[in-house]
Amino acid sequence: MAYNIAIDGPAGAGKSTIAKMIAKKMSLIYVDTGAMYRAMALYLLRNGVAEDDVEGISAKCREAEISIEYEDGMQVVYLNGENVSGLLRTEEVGNMASKTSVQPAVREKLVELQKELATKKDCVMDGRDIGTCVLPGADLKIYLTASSQVRAKRRFDELTAKGVECNLEQIRLDIEERDYRDMNRAHSPLRQAEDAILVDTSYMSIEEVADTIMGYCKI
Ligand code: DC
Repeated sequence: MAYNIAIDGPAGAGKSTIAKMIAKKMSLIYVDTGAMYRAMALYLLRNGVAEDDVEGISAKCREAEISIEYEDGMQVVYLNGENVSGLLRTEEVGNMASKTSVQPAVREKLVELQKELATKKDCVMDGRDIGTCVLPGADLKIYLTASSQVRAKRRFDELTAKGVECNLEQIRLDIEERDYRDMNRAHSPLRQAEDAILVDTSYMSIEEVADTIMGYCKI
């Protein structure tokens, strides 16, 4: 049986940073499920499919072949054979992923892929529904969160460091809108699993968060 850690939480809580650290410390594979939803969103954007076109999305889901490979320990996402990893982290793709991930056709396809990965590999998987839906039997479940103010400030600092001009208040509003959508969709909404441990990272350093989670790992 593979050893699985599930990390869920809203956008900007620090899931991917922490999951990568834990994966490295424990020699586990890091599975970024958000990247899979983003790859599907990229495919829909490229094909001009509207976010609410249920039939169109279903048809494109059948065409899109998404696979995950590991190169030098890094997750690489392939979309119909093309490495799209570098194209996924834009606001446009992120917003499209949030909107189209409500579609059952998208979720069914990607959840199946995620379950399959987790049975084969010891992994840390992060997302929105990992503890509740993808890996209900995970060995450890963490629900990572932080206030929307703190998450917006982190995103603002990250963009500013890259030289991108942005507005803190607008980022906070976008984050709250995305939280609302992710938490209120009909299919597998974002919520803390009953047996998940809540970690609020608002006033913690990355090292403190990683140490806290490592303290719960029994391997
Ligand atoms: O974690 P992220 O920002 O890369 O995710 C992008 C969107 O994908 C997010 O707004 C909701 C969706 N998502 C999801 O529905 N389920 C997951 N397990 C991961 C992401």
